[in-house]
Parts: sequence; C-alpha cells; structure tokens
Amino acid sequence: MISKKMTEALNGQINKEMYSAFLYMDMSAHCTYVGLNGFANWFMVQYQEEMSHAMKIYDYVNSQGEKVVLNAIEKPPGNFGTPLEMFEATLKHEQFITASIHGLVDLANEEKDYATQIFLQWFITEQIEEEANDNEMIAKLKLVGKDGNGLFMIDKELEARVFNPPAKE
Ligand code: FEO
Repeated sequence: MISKKMTEALNGQINKEMYSAFLYMDMSAHCTYVGLNGFANWFMVQYQEEMSHAMKIYDYVNSQGEKVVLNAIEKPPGNFGTPLEMFEATLKHEQFITASIHGLVDLANEEKDYATQIFLQWFITEQIEEEANDNEMIAKLKLVGKDGNGLFMIDKELEARVFNPPAKE
C-alpha cells in the first residue's frame, strides 16, 4: 500500500521519464539528420532506457493497487547544437532527474514507506551510472575538440551501444 501523495509523485516521475525518452529520441533524430549515426544510436538506446524506467514505475504503481495517470509530455527544445552541447544538456537533464528521484526518496522516508524506499534504490544506482556515462562522453568530446577525425572515431564507437533491458523484480 502506498499513499495517494506518493502515487501522485510516482505518476509525476513516470511523466519525467517519458519526457526524457522523448528528449533523447529528438536528439537521436537530430544526430541522424546531421550524419552522426553512432550518436543517433546512442541517443536511441537512451530513449529505450528511459521508456524502461517509466515502465518500471508504471508496474510498481500497478502492483500497489493504485492508478497510473498519464499526463501530456512537454515538447523538447529542438535546437541541440554540437555533440558536446548535447551531452552537456543531457548531463544537466540527468542531474534534474537525480534530484527528482532523491525527492521521492525523501517523501518515502517521511512517510515510512519502506516498500517504495527499496523500490527507489535501483533508480539511485541507475542515476549514478547515467551521470557517469554523460561525464565520460563530455570528457571525450572535450579531448577531441574540433578534430573531425576524433569525432568520427567517437561516432563509430557509439554505433556499438545496445539496449539491455533492466531485470524484472
Ligand atoms: Fe531515467 Fe535518465 O533517467
């Protein structure tokens, strides 16, 4: 059993995860348009990850006998700039998501909601990985700077990323 307030907060998080998916799908489209197919692949895998995060919360709300409520998804900003700027924007967005997850943990602690506390542990760990991935990409992109060959090599490397669905609990 979870409270109505927690249900509402989790439904809000579903919306944020779906916005994240929408944002990364749009970034993927942008990368395809400018001929960076490896980057496009990276962001499309990220889209899949975000949808799986949304579904994980969706399943949890259902498992608690509460109602999932879907809301409108905001339009992504669209003008994404260079790959470095895209990853800087991605990191900033993920930091926002991390803060949002931490807010849910605070609420679960306040409410002595032990089930949701355990459920959210997975997301805390996932956010560490997400931010680490973005920091690594930012470091690499700063290293290559305006070197076209370096960018081409990173693009090739990113073609290999595949989506690994998270394990079901
Ligand atoms: Fe689902 Fe990238 O946070």
